[in-house]
Amino acid sequence: MTTQATTTALDVTDARTGKAYNLPITDGAIRANDLKKISTGEEDDPGLLSYDPAFLNTASCRSSITFIDGDKGILRYRGYPIEQLAEESTFLEVAWLLRHGELPNQKEYDEFVHDITYHTYVHENMRKFLEGFRYDAHPMAMLNSAVAALSSFYPSSRNIMDPVERNISIIRLVAKVPTIAAFCYRHLKGLPFVYPDNDLSYVDNFLSMVARMTEPQYQANPIFSKALEILFILHADHEQNCSTSAVRAVGSSHVDPFSAMSAGIAALFGPLHGGANEQVLRMIEEIGHVKNVPQFIESVKSGKGSRLMGFGHRVYKSYDPRAKIVKRLADQVFEVVGVDKDLEIALELERVALSDEYFISRKLYPNVDFYTGLIYRSMAFPTDFFTVLFAIARTAGWLAQWEEMLLDKEQKIARPRQIYIGPDERPYKRSIDHGHAVGQQKDALRQ
Ligand code: ACO
Repeated sequence: MTTQATTTALDVTDARTGKAYNLPITDGAIRANDLKKISTGEEDDPGLLSYDPAFLNTASCRSSITFIDGDKGILRYRGYPIEQLAEESTFLEVAWLLRHGELPNQKEYDEFVHDITYHTYVHENMRKFLEGFRYDAHPMAMLNSAVAALSSFYPSSRNIMDPVERNISIIRLVAKVPTIAAFCYRHLKGLPFVYPDNDLSYVDNFLSMVARMTEPQYQANPIFSKALEILFILHADHEQNCSTSAVRAVGSSHVDPFSAMSAGIAALFGPLHGGANEQVLRMIEEIGHVKNVPQFIESVKSGKGSRLMGFGHRVYKSYDPRAKIVKRLADQVFEVVGVDKDLEIALELERVALSDEYFISRKLYPNVDFYTGLIYRSMAFPTDFFTVLFAIARTAGWLAQWEEMLLDKEQKIARPRQIYIGPDERPYKRSIDHGHAVGQQKDALRQ
């Protein structure tokens, strides 16, 4: 990893013109904007563009939050190895670290925990808002809409350049997302909403809002509570992934953080991203029995079936370090709740895939979501809810990245270029009867 800017240069010759150019290289990157000066000199030539669909090889920012070495399987938050944070820290400590760059001292931590604890309540109208959803609404759709709706409750959050406003918005989001998430769960189950309990820790309070019935105070199973704390830490940030890039891109328009974060939740919902944890469980259920694993793997390889969900990663080309921790965690949880046939199927899928040429040659290894679903299910979370758990944790990372983007003097509104491949100019030729359509519209308006 390079923290200091190191500058060398790239000499290139444009084969079209024979002209030579010298492009500075800083931290292993050339500036795409420097390519503009490489031009044929013709009047309509705006200079060279770089073409990179899906950002396979484009750095969109300089960031000091999370470091990943995909080949070596390394993940660090602000320099701290994920294994040590998972072992030693709490989720709120990690949330502080991600945002501020250093671990909190005792006073900072106590104040932060206090602030988060005392902002867990949501406006009563939020409850009515959530009650408006159908009984079978997907909780990610509910969470996404509810977080976007929070923007309307805090209009001053639009003052994003005011550090006081940014701070309270970040505290509100980290504090209220678990409450909204738990309300989504209770709605799904047709159960009354449970209000936050300020005497409990962040994770225990969340579990209380999810599971409490008539007991005066909910006592979470310590194994589940510890497992969820670790899973939250593992999911807290992951540099410029799809949802974080969405938060940064939407936030770059200078919209409020609630709106920007709802874009991240939408991106996380997708099955190729955070939604994979849900899809892994659905895939395992479909396989149904260990004996069906070879047939399933063949269907994946032939491209006729679905992908092996929970496998593969854009950046990790070796074992995802989070997946290693999750697998150990799954062992601990299953020691308590007992091994079920789905874990056996997952283990067999992993064994077969890791010894198969198709997966080896493509460097496809289990990612963080391969085993998380099994743990969540053993805690009795419904499959639909898994990605919501991911979103609670990722809130910390999204907000740290959002603030870093805002304070980065080099950032502007995100606005990629395109290579236009559509038709050239052509004259308009009417092929529909407008009069009829307009008449129909008028009739509709009169009704
Ligand atoms: N199962 C089978 N084949 C796969 C898988 C998979 N899970 N993932 C990639 N491949 C194959 C592709 O078919 C492709 O093969 P080809 O070269 O013969 O065409 C090759 O591996 C490269 O795949 P790409 O799609 O180019 O890789 P990309 O980096 O774009 O995709 C992704 C990464 C989306 C994670 C992909 O591996 C995938 O779809 N995995 C399953 C979904 C999943 O688990 N997502 C969670 C990721 S972790 C997270 O977001 C929290």
